Amino acid sequence: MLLDHERVAIHTGPRSRLPVIVAVHSTALGPAAGGLRLWHYPDWRDGLTDALRLSAAMTSKFAVAGLPSGGGKAVVALPEGVTLDTGRRREVLRDVADVIDSLGGMYATGPDVGTGPADMALIGETTPHVFCRPAQLGGSGDSSPHTARGTLAALRAVSRRLYGTASLNGRSLAVIGLGRVGAGLARLLTAEGAALTVTDIDPDKRRIGEELGAVWRAPDEILAADVDIVVPSALGSVLTGQNVAELRCRAVVGPANNQLATPEVADLLHHRGIIWVPDYVASAGGVINAISTELHHAGADAADARVRAIEETVNDLLETAHRLGRTPAQAADELATRRLGAASGLRRGA
Ligand SMILES: NC(=O)c1ccc[n+]([C@@H]2O[C@H](COP(=O)([O-])OP(=O)(O)OC[C@H]3O[C@@H](n4cnc5c(N)ncnc54)[C@H](O)[C@@H]3O)[C@@H](O)[C@H]2O)c1
Repeated sequence: MLLDHERVAIHTGPRSRLPVIVAVHSTALGPAAGGLRLWHYPDWRDGLTDALRLSAAMTSKFAVAGLPSGGGKAVVALPEGVTLDTGRRREVLRDVADVIDSLGGMYATGPDVGTGPADMALIGETTPHVFCRPAQLGGSGDSSPHTARGTLAALRAVSRRLYGTASLNGRSLAVIGLGRVGAGLARLLTAEGAALTVTDIDPDKRRIGEELGAVWRAPDEILAADVDIVVPSALGSVLTGQNVAELRCRAVVGPANNQLATPEVADLLHHRGIIWVPDYVASAGGVINAISTELHHAGADAADARVRAIEETVNDLLETAHRLGRTPAQAADELATRRLGAASGLRRGA
C-alpha cells in the first residue's frame, strides 16, 4: 500500500520516552489541523495506524466544510496499563509541543480523545500552532457547544429533506449519550420544540432527561425507538450490519465519531431508505469554530455563520445524493475529492 500522507513524524519523546506521532495527511487546502489523541494502544504501531486514518478523515472534514485547512492528527501511543501522573503528562505534552513546533506551522493541534483545553494551554507555552486553549488565555475553549450547534444545523437540513421544513418543532428524536455535546444538543432540540427520547450508560444523566421532559430508554433499546431521527452522541461503532434492520427512524444524524462499524453500513442504511449524514460532516461545528477564530482570525459572527453553514452543506449533499442515486457518504467523499483535486491543480499551475 502506498503512503498517502505528506509527512509523518514519529519520535520517542526525549522526556517521556513515549511514542509521539504526528501525521500530516494533506496541506492542499491549507496548513493541517486536527486533534491530539492521548490513548492506550496494544502496540505503538496501532497508534500510527490511528493517526494515519484520523488525519485523512480530517482532510475530508475540512474539504467538505469548505475550510482552507488540511488534515492532520497527533497521537501519543500509551502502552496498555500505563497511567500518567501530572508530571509525566506535562513531559508528554512538552514532547508533543516540540514535534509540532519543529513542523513550522505545517500542523496545528487541538484536543481529541484524552486531551482538553488545559493541555492545549501547556502546548501553547512552546508553540503557537495550537487551538482550543481556554478562553482566559485567548483560545476558544470547549468546542462542544459549537459541535452541538453544527449538528443542529445538519438536523435542520435532514428535516427539510424529509418533511419539507427545517423546523424540528414536533419532531421526535432519540439522543444517544448525554455528554458534553449530547446534553447541549438535547437542550437546543428541546428549545426548538422537538420531543426527545434519551439514554446514557451513566444513570446520573437521567436528571438531564427529566429536566428536559424527555422519555428515558435503556441504552440497548433506544436505537430501535419509534422516532423520526436517531442522534448518536456517544462513542463507538453504534450502527452495525445487524442492528440497521431494527431501526424504525427515517434518519440517523449525530455528532458521535465513527458511527458505522464498517463503511458498508452506509449502503445498508441507504437501501432501507434511512438518511445517514456522515459523522465527519455533522460533527464539524466545533473544529470549524475553533479553526475559524483561532487560526483564520475570523470574528465570532463569521465563525458562527460557518458553523450554521453546515445546514447548507448537508442540504447540498442530500440533493446531490438524491439526484445521482448515491448515498450521502459517497456524495460527501466525492465533494471532498473534487475540492482537493481543484486545490492541487491550482498549486501545480501556480
Ligand atoms: N466535543 C466535541 O466538540 C466533539 C467534536 C466532534 C465529535 N465529537 C464526538 O461526539 C461524541 C460525544 O462527545 P462528547 O465530547 O460529548 O463526549 P463525552 O464523553 O462528554 O460524552 C459521551 C457520553 O456518552 C455516554 N456513553 C458512552 N457510551 C454510551 C453508550 N453505549 N450508550 C449511551 N451513552 C453512552 C457517556 O456516559 C457520556 O455521557 C464523541 O463520539 C466525540 O468523538 C465531539
